[in-house]
Order: sequence, then structure tokens, then C-alpha cells
Amino acid sequence: MIVKRVCTLIILVTARYTNGENNGSFPDTFLFGVAISSYQSEGAWNVDGKSESIWDAFTHKNPSPIKGGHNGDVACDSYHRYKEDIALAAGLGLDFYRFSISWSRVLPTGYDNEVNEIGLQYYKNFVAEIRKYDMIPVATIYHWDLPNNLVSIGWDNLKMVDLFVNYSRVVIKNLPDVGVWLTINEPKQICHSGYGDTLLAPAKNSSGLAEYMCAYVVLKAHAETYHMYKEEFNNYTAKMSIVIDCQWYEPLTSSAADKEAAERFINFECGIYAHPIYIGDWPIDLKFRIYERSLMENYNKSRLPELTLEEINYIQGTADFFALNTYFTYMVNDVPEGDPNITSFQNDVRIEKTYVKGAQLGANGFPVVPWGVYKMLKYIKNAYNDPVILITEMGFSEYGLTLEDDLRILFFMDYFNATLEAMFQDGVQVIGISAWSLLDNFEWVDGYSAHFGFYYIDFTDPNLTRIPKKSVEFFKKLVEKKSLPILENYQNSGADNKIFNSIVNNLLGIFIIFYILFIQ
Ligand code: NOJ
Repeated sequence: MIVKRVCTLIILVTARYTNGENNGSFPDTFLFGVAISSYQSEGAWNVDGKSESIWDAFTHKNPSPIKGGHNGDVACDSYHRYKEDIALAAGLGLDFYRFSISWSRVLPTGYDNEVNEIGLQYYKNFVAEIRKYDMIPVATIYHWDLPNNLVSIGWDNLKMVDLFVNYSRVVIKNLPDVGVWLTINEPKQICHSGYGDTLLAPAKNSSGLAEYMCAYVVLKAHAETYHMYKEEFNNYTAKMSIVIDCQWYEPLTSSAADKEAAERFINFECGIYAHPIYIGDWPIDLKFRIYERSLMENYNKSRLPELTLEEINYIQGTADFFALNTYFTYMVNDVPEGDPNITSFQNDVRIEKTYVKGAQLGANGFPVVPWGVYKMLKYIKNAYNDPVILITEMGFSEYGLTLEDDLRILFFMDYFNATLEAMFQDGVQVIGISAWSLLDNFEWVDGYSAHFGFYYIDFTDPNLTRIPKKSVEFFKKLVEKKSLPILENYQNSGADNKIFNSIVNNLLGIFIIFYILFIQ
């Protein structure tokens, strides 16, 4: 166990694989894991002292905002079956297990004056169980399930900073065997979909306003937790980061406007969090654009809170590595200025997105584009000072209730290959990947209709039996050999697509010029 801990530490410090060949093999030190979160899998929503979270409240609304009226009251019942689940993960031969902690299970009022010892004990047992199999527990402190008692404060209020730091202190102190800490999962989803829209709880629907305040508060909460951790727990060796979701946006045409639009969109979703942490301050195009648009809408200052020099310095550098969730890619083009009477994220970002031609869609609509992952990884290397990257999530939601999940297998082949390309061809420092997800689970607004798991669960069956899909054997083999298996009839549609696309685009360009010059 100690050997593995030391290895993780070394790996997290450096991981460069330049000048190698991508022959489908991962470096020996590469780490594989699976990821899952508390609300999506635990169930036991009101058991053993746990209070209601914003997701309990959201899914219990009438009419339900969730497909099929589903909720996470029972979910995979992992609260009672965590030993079975961790054994399944160990059976895959994994190096780490990524899970999240439910704030309202540990601190039912949301405040740290009243600790629910049973809830805390659950996570102590959970971490010990992962360690039992010599896997590294990778803990996300916050994966969207805010105690409902705090909803009237919320992530668009600076009071949340202290509350989050205090909650984090309790879990960090009590779970010393956690191997990697992730403060907050996908801030873009929390702020954009939860505060700027109605897609996720608490569905505040304050587009272009509360969502930027939320981004500011989340960054401050993360940064203060990081500093608290480094100061108060300096005997701990676990590294800490924040999980940022970055998707690749490819310019639709080679026009400067479309190129800027694609870059702008990446900055509005990913750079808004990554830039302050890895470089310092908001991305310049984001700052300028929201300022410009705010004045156009008659606000007397930018709707994006300004970061003072002190805040910029405080937030900058608060991550030991880059924790990346990445799933899909779209084509993006610039669009004309929107109605100045309407404040919205869309009017700020001013883009339109379309599908990449021929992209396979997952059951929840995520388009599968392997070369987008390759470009995303390269972009992070170049934009954020070549950080060590842990891919904390990538995954595919299979159609229907099939156990023959060939599309998922192809997805992993292609996305892993694209990752290897970035590592070997471009020296991107990727040290590991966790696949989303171990089990089919509660997929937020899609309820139980999207199946991301290696293990199938029939949520109408009270036994909630975990049934292995075909991808279990595939993944197990891959993890064991640390290399992509040879699959019959498999055609690599991975990173090489970019070469194909560029040939096609160039040929098309040449043809158009030829047509204009000589044929027209
Ligand atoms: C990212 C989120 O972290 C996770 O909760 C979600 O289930 C997956 N994306 C799939 O949509």
C-alpha cells in the first residue's frame, strides 16, 4: 500500500512520454480507475441521519423535472452495497476508485457544528474498503448535492465560501487515507446549468448573472479549501485539485470569426475556471466580452465579478495537477450580436454549435469525437503551462438495455487511443483515466434512461443486481495489459480522424478555389 502511495505521488509530480511511439500501450505507471458520485449511486436519501439535499428536493418536485419522474432515493443502493461495488471495481484490476461525499450525510444542517457520526463512519468504512484492495481512494468533496438547508444561501453567495471550507475540513480531517482530493466536480455544470439554467438543481435560471457570481464563489471556495488544506494538513501527502469539464469546440470554418468563437466558447466553459487557477485572472476574451456586452445592455459595470490583484494571486496555483472531465466535441461558429434587451450566457458567448459530421451520439446525446479529445488535451498542455493531467471522467452512454455494449467498447478504444496520441506524439502529461462509470446510475435529468456503467442494473428490480456487460472483460484486459486490446473488425477512428479531416478540408478548399477561378 505504501509503495502505491509513493508511486502516485511521484507520478503526480512528473509524467512525460515524449519521443515514444503510440503502439497502443500505456506507460507502466499509468493509473486506471472508475468514477461514480454520491447522489447518483448511494440512495438511502433519508437514512441514518442524512438530511435532504438539493437533488432530493429537485427530484421530489411535482411535476418532476426528471425523465420518467425518476429520483435517486434508492439509486444503486450503494450506501448499503458499497462493499460489493468496491469488490467489482477491484475485480477490474483498477488502481483507483473515484467517489464523492454527500455533504448532507456528513453535516445534515450544512454547518459544521453538528456532525452526523453515522454518515462520517460510512465514508471511513468506504475509504478503508478501497484501501483493502490496494486501490487509491480518490474523493470528490462536492459533486452537486448541496444540503437543501443551504439552498437559500447557494453558490451565488459569498457566504458559501466559509461553509464549503468548514465542510471540507471535517471530511479531510476524518479521512486521512484518501489518496487524492478533488474539491468540486464540474463547476460549469453547477453554475451554468444550476444557476444560469433550469437543467440542474437548484434551477435558478439566472443566465448571464447568477452563473458568473457562482463561478466567482466556486473559485474562491476551492482556493480557500486548497490553502486551508496545505496549511492545516501539511502532514498529508495526498494531492488536491478541482475537476474541470472541458469539451473541444472546433471552428466550423477557417474564418477568424469562427476561430475566435470556438476559442471563446472554450473559455466561457472551461477557461473561466482553469485560467484563474493555472494562469491567473479570468481569460482576457471572456473578461472583455462580458464587459462589452454588459455596457451594451445598460449595466454600469461588467456582470462578471472583477478579481482583485489579491484574489488573482490567491486563486492562482491552487491545484497540484489538472483534473479533467471530457466527453464530446461540437463544431462552432460565430453569430451576430443578440438583442441588447436580453441578458443571457448565449448573448455573451455569441456562438452556434452543430454536430461534427458522422459523429456517433450516445444515448444521452453526447457526440463521440475522438480527435476532439486529442485536441483538447493538446490545448490544455499549451494553454495551462503543460500540467500533469488526470482524466477524472470520460464515458459513453449505451442505447437501450443491452449487455452487448459494443459501442461503449469502441468509444473507449477510440478515446484511449486519442489520449495515447496526445501523450506520445505531443508529450501531453496524462497520468491516468477514470472511466465513467462503474455501474449504471442516476444520470441527473435523464434519470435511469442513460446507461454509462460497466455493470447493468435493472432499476425496477428490487434486487438491483449488478450484471456485467461485455465491456467488463474488455476493460479488465485493458487494465491488466495496460494496452489497447486487438479487437476483431476494429477500425481505429481515433485521433487519425484529424488527419483524414484535414485532408478532406484541404481538398475541398482546393476544389472551391479551382471552381471559382476556372469553372465559374
Ligand atoms: C459528468 C458528471 O460529473 C457526472 O455526474 C455525469 O453523470 C457524467 N458527466 C455523464 O453525464
